[in-house]
Amino acid sequence: MRDCHRELTNWLTEAGAEVKIDAAGNLRAFYPAAQSDAPRLLLGSHIDTVPNAGAFDGVLGVVIALALLEVLENRRLPFAIEVVAFSEEEGVRFGTPFIGSRALAGRVDDELLNREDANRISVRTAIKNFGLNPNEIPRAVLSDDTLAYLEFHIEQGPILESLGRPLGVVEAIAGQTRMEVRFLGRSNHAGTTPMHLRRDALVAAAEWIVAVERAAQHDTGLVATVGRIVARPGATNVIAAEALVTLDVRHKSDDIRGRAVAALLRLAGEIVERRGLSLGQSVLLNQPAVAMDPFLVDQIQEAIRSTGHQPHRMTSGAGHDAMILAEKVPAAMIFLRSPGGISHDPSESVEAEDVAAALQCGLHLLDQLANSTEFQKRMCRA
Ligand code: HGY
Ligand code: MN
Ligand code: MN
Repeated sequence: MRDCHRELTNWLTEAGAEVKIDAAGNLRAFYPAAQSDAPRLLLGSHIDTVPNAGAFDGVLGVVIALALLEVLENRRLPFAIEVVAFSEEEGVRFGTPFIGSRALAGRVDDELLNREDANRISVRTAIKNFGLNPNEIPRAVLSDDTLAYLEFHIEQGPILESLGRPLGVVEAIAGQTRMEVRFLGRSNHAGTTPMHLRRDALVAAAEWIVAVERAAQHDTGLVATVGRIVARPGATNVIAAEALVTLDVRHKSDDIRGRAVAALLRLAGEIVERRGLSLGQSVLLNQPAVAMDPFLVDQIQEAIRSTGHQPHRMTSGAGHDAMILAEKVPAAMIFLRSPGGISHDPSESVEAEDVAAALQCGLHLLDQLANSTEFQKRMCRA
């Protein structure tokens, strides 16, 4: 993260922005407007990622924002631009995502700061270890003259490629539930314990994992994933006493997602009941679906058309910082095609000409907003 901050700071400073790191580890770069008291447009994405990741999820959105400043070549707009590189969006280390953008939304609380990673290091300690002061986090909140938030991001799915379109516009972001579910049995000797006397937590979890996939296959638009399993004590010749599994459930309807999660937990209860085990569960995230700002969605659609491409309006199955910022300011996203629909994998990629089209779209968008009466009204209100 430090290396990333250094590189981005050099490039953004050269592009005419003033760079600082806020107390949540977000990089914040301010590119002034023609008038010093003008409100600002926020552009950015996240620079953390997942294990064994690709090279574009998140960081591409920050670099496209940087490239827009470079192409502006110190040209002043009626609004300032703040580029933000969020420090933690994926939720890999502490199990709960959007820590960076929650700081801008004023939603970092003690419950979040006390969350610990696998080495029992809390978010608060990790921030201090990075050389920042967690007590300063309230000052990381969005500037109240922020007009809107725009995020360029790879689609991370197969839709744009299947349509042969380089760019898409996000109308809504699906809601997501992330949980830890613990199957609690009893360890025993693998060689001496007859099958009918076992309380095998790992087998119970396995039965549930297959049922999770089957349940999601029956509900269009629903996706459910068990991404991690930890069996304890984890020895070849010991029947597992505990199996911790993660659950990730998404759908554009919060009602369908809520009912699906409840049904899956009931299923887990039936399995442990039948097998003489018990169940533990903790909710790591219950993030409602979020609609993007209709005015910005229309502006993005027009800007994509100005690049000579046909836009596609779509829902994002992936979560994004835009869904946190949308609580505070109008937000919208521009998607770039994901070749092979692959993401969260080293073979994640983008086409150079799609990035060029995204840059063109961004420049059209800035010009459109600079000349839009609706945006000027919003600027007067900011
Ligand atoms: O998992 C997600 O929704 C995204 O990669 N943050
Ligand atoms: Mn991601
Ligand atoms: Mn992402």
